Amino acid sequence: MRARVFPDYDAMSAAAADAVARKLEAGPSAVFMLPTGITPLGMYWRLVEMHRSGGLSFAEATFFNLDEYLGLAPDHAASYHVYMKENLYGLIDVDPARVFVPEGTAPDPAAECERYEVAVAEAGGIDVCVLGIGRNGHIGFNEPGAPFDSRTRVVQLSESTRKVNAADFDADRAPERAITVGMATIFESREVLLLASGTNKAGGVAAAMEGDVTESVPASMLRSHPNASLFLDEDAASDLGRGVAG
Ligand code: PGA
Repeated sequence: MRARVFPDYDAMSAAAADAVARKLEAGPSAVFMLPTGITPLGMYWRLVEMHRSGGLSFAEATFFNLDEYLGLAPDHAASYHVYMKENLYGLIDVDPARVFVPEGTAPDPAAECERYEVAVAEAGGIDVCVLGIGRNGHIGFNEPGAPFDSRTRVVQLSESTRKVNAADFDADRAPERAITVGMATIFESREVLLLASGTNKAGGVAAAMEGDVTESVPASMLRSHPNASLFLDEDAASDLGRGVAG
């Protein structure tokens, strides 16, 4: 796993957007897996800008999202359906038939997870998986302890994740469960780009890069991936090389 360190969030976001744009230009029908959260917003803004002023087209590409809260309708303000529509899909020329986000209100969540895995397989697998990282090292909603061989499934969110995400919800209560793409599904992506910004990610980044490869730190799995890169700003990289990783 290579780490590329950029001076600040803007530079990191610009480099990530360039990496996605280059992939699209080389193969317009590429298949992407995309994250939500604060971290990828700068990358999304730039991709929207490249579409608007540079003519970058997303029309032939396929998009999967990493996760969605269980029980949230697609029009719930805090749902990842709404996040993706507002920050990317509603602002570019995606083909709605090639956009997949797990359905948080599916009547049979296990069947929804199965449907999602089948859709990924039918798309030919993921060419580029873009990830954020949780303070606890989670990727998607694969919390510490998630088996490396896990597939798309319903998971319990950790208290720390719910606390971080609580601000998006009334009465500060984030849902307890989510649907997430599995660790194995992520690992099978042909290329992985993990983005991290800020000192609150420095510990998780160092543990993933320099600690043990362990299910206790989900992002550490990427160390054995043949084509995974970390895009970091200096703050997120600030614990690297200091021997502080657990
Ligand atoms: P963030 O979330 O980008 O909002 O920090 C990342 C994550 O929890 O995976």
